[in-house]
Amino acid sequence: MKQTILTGDRPTGPLHLGHYVGSLKNRVALQHEYDTYVLIADVQALTDNAEHPDKVRRNILEVAYDYLAVGIDPTVATIVVQSMLPELAELTMYFLNLVSVSRLQRNPTIKDEIRYRGFDDAVPAGFLVYPVSQTADIAGFMADCVPVGDEQLPMIEQAIEIVHRFNRLYAPVLVEPKALLSNMSRLVGTDGHHKMSKSLNNAIFLSDSADVVVQKVRAMYTDPDHIRADQPGKVEGNPVFIYLDAFCQDQPAVDDLKRRYQAGGLGDVVVKKYLVDVLETFLQPIRERRAQFAADPAEVMRLLHDGTERGRMRVADTLNRVRHAMQLDYVFRNAV
Ligand code: TRP
Repeated sequence: MKQTILTGDRPTGPLHLGHYVGSLKNRVALQHEYDTYVLIADVQALTDNAEHPDKVRRNILEVAYDYLAVGIDPTVATIVVQSMLPELAELTMYFLNLVSVSRLQRNPTIKDEIRYRGFDDAVPAGFLVYPVSQTADIAGFMADCVPVGDEQLPMIEQAIEIVHRFNRLYAPVLVEPKALLSNMSRLVGTDGHHKMSKSLNNAIFLSDSADVVVQKVRAMYTDPDHIRADQPGKVEGNPVFIYLDAFCQDQPAVDDLKRRYQAGGLGDVVVKKYLVDVLETFLQPIRERRAQFAADPAEVMRLLHDGTERGRMRVADTLNRVRHAMQLDYVFRNAV
């Protein structure tokens, strides 16, 4: 029997190179080996976008196009829309009793995200508890493995705690998940300082046009002390070289560029031009496939609909077992 993978993304915007390096690449590679479910987490997206349901709705298809364009194969993997599985909300409700508010407040990823979203004292309760909802996603699909970036590790830790607690209290029906980290789990943004993220305006999207990629690379941060081409430049922490390492198929060529950059005599303009070519080689086929799928939204919706139905059967089966373990099945019959 194949093991099961669950992963997902919030549909709040198109996916970028950081998503690719941190997770998409891994998913595409693993989809034949594992029974793979990919969740478009629109309910989770609403935890910090309650005022923008239109944005969330619009981006469901955008994310689906990105998935298909990078090679998630809908005949092998199952793409599921979270909001169409009310069983996940039900499971979240039961799991909320198995975690304390202070434990949720200690989750380092949540702490970071609260700070950076500027919620101050007005953290939506749904946002604070989204790790519990994510636990329901993972446990609902009976996932053995969750391929994630390292900032998601605290989520998996919480999921394991909740699953343990459930199995100990009621009955051992839930599967303990484990994280599958990719070898490069976070990609720095074009600013060279923060993780690539749409909200920080430092992202190159999988759907960016060739012209936009040129502009973004031209504006990229490099080594601020590398003012003239003949000066030696720094390669460590320089996002241009980080992207070359991540996307160039010709590592000896990258090593050669690094050597020449460090020795002095290689200008930023030349290296950036090389990077543009490398990114174009990577993005151009993705862009082409994306356009093909985007030309037929009805067909992509049909794929999502089919995937969601298959996913729902799996989660409904988990919920039957959960309700039985919690003595919530046949309540009326048992009461008399
Ligand atoms: N929290 C994840 C993110 O922001 C998205 C997500 C939702 C997810 N449910 C999941 C990831 C289940 C893995 C498993 O990227």
